[in-house]
Amino acid sequence: MKSKITLLPGDGIGPEVVGEAVRVLDFIASKYNHTFEYKERLMGGCSIDKYGSSLTDETLADCQSADAVLLGAVGGPKWDDPAAKDRPERGLLALRKGLGVFANLRPVKVHPALMEWSPLKPEKLQGVDILVVRELTGGLYFGWPKGRDIKDDRERAVDTLEYYDYEIRRVVELAFKLAKGRKKKVTSVDKANVLESSRLWRQIATQVGKENPDVELDHMLVDTASMRLITGPAWMDVVVTENMFGDILTDEASVLAGSMGMLPSASLGRMNDASGVGLYEPIHGSAPDIAGKGIANPTGTILSTAMLLRYSLKLEAEAAAIESAVEATISNGARTADIGGKLSTRQMADEIINKMQNAE
Ligand code: IPM
Ligand code: MG
Repeated sequence: MKSKITLLPGDGIGPEVVGEAVRVLDFIASKYNHTFEYKERLMGGCSIDKYGSSLTDETLADCQSADAVLLGAVGGPKWDDPAAKDRPERGLLALRKGLGVFANLRPVKVHPALMEWSPLKPEKLQGVDILVVRELTGGLYFGWPKGRDIKDDRERAVDTLEYYDYEIRRVVELAFKLAKGRKKKVTSVDKANVLESSRLWRQIATQVGKENPDVELDHMLVDTASMRLITGPAWMDVVVTENMFGDILTDEASVLAGSMGMLPSASLGRMNDASGVGLYEPIHGSAPDIAGKGIANPTGTILSTAMLLRYSLKLEAEAAAIESAVEATISNGARTADIGGKLSTRQMADEIINKMQNAE
């Protein structure tokens, strides 16, 4: 099978982790007889430096015409000037919008061998297997009006939290669909006691729940959810929530897994429609403090390629092969610095590739 993958390594540790993930994809291509055609493009701060824009029209077009996009990370102190007219993060948001990827899947699993490494007590972590479905192209990130002005002689800043019914429905429906392949439980997280947009969210989630009686639906306020993620995470299955709540809750959830460096993500538009391009990225940022040192954990990006194979290329066996190799590698004690070890980015990827080589 021949597939087109656009690579956006981005900034900071992005190029290091994407480089290793591509070696994993190359291994899969040769073992299973596929052809992956890569196009590598700049996005984020590196694109501002070269083209004066965090995402050029050409790069967006190269992403839209691919089967899937693999992204590293964007951002860094160099581009942090609040007065700057473009920022690396703007490119990422424009890319998500431009690809129409409204659902961001962030699975959070706790590997038994890493329980000791999490600040939470191991008994809290037993059986944790959560899939956060974060709405990705609406809410505060995109709502209009947005900006700064002077009003009544005061400096003012405005962001708008806006959701249309269809934006809520499509992501909640996807969460229910995914729950059917899991424990059949959806927790819809909102702030319906305060926010109008959350009241609409809850109304629609309730309707979708009625249409899917085989799936159990709970509503939870976001402040309670942030507490429950720590006090009783094993109870959660699929969590669906709006853009910003999902951003915050998934960083919190990554603590369960021991490190942000472990967690992958897939951003999808239409799951049953091959025309939807998927965007795959680890949930961590560009980590400028360790960039260029070759010590970043490539696991989140490597697991993102497994999601790419599963969702965009429909290569389930190949995806599962990567996931089992990662499991086995962690069980064997392979560790980068973020999870208490000394392996370099390259060595960690080598361990995973070796596992796949030796697996039958
Ligand atoms: C994430 C990141 C991004 C987000 C930033 C870099 C814009 O934190 O993917 O979680 O807030 O969505
Ligand atoms: Mg985030």
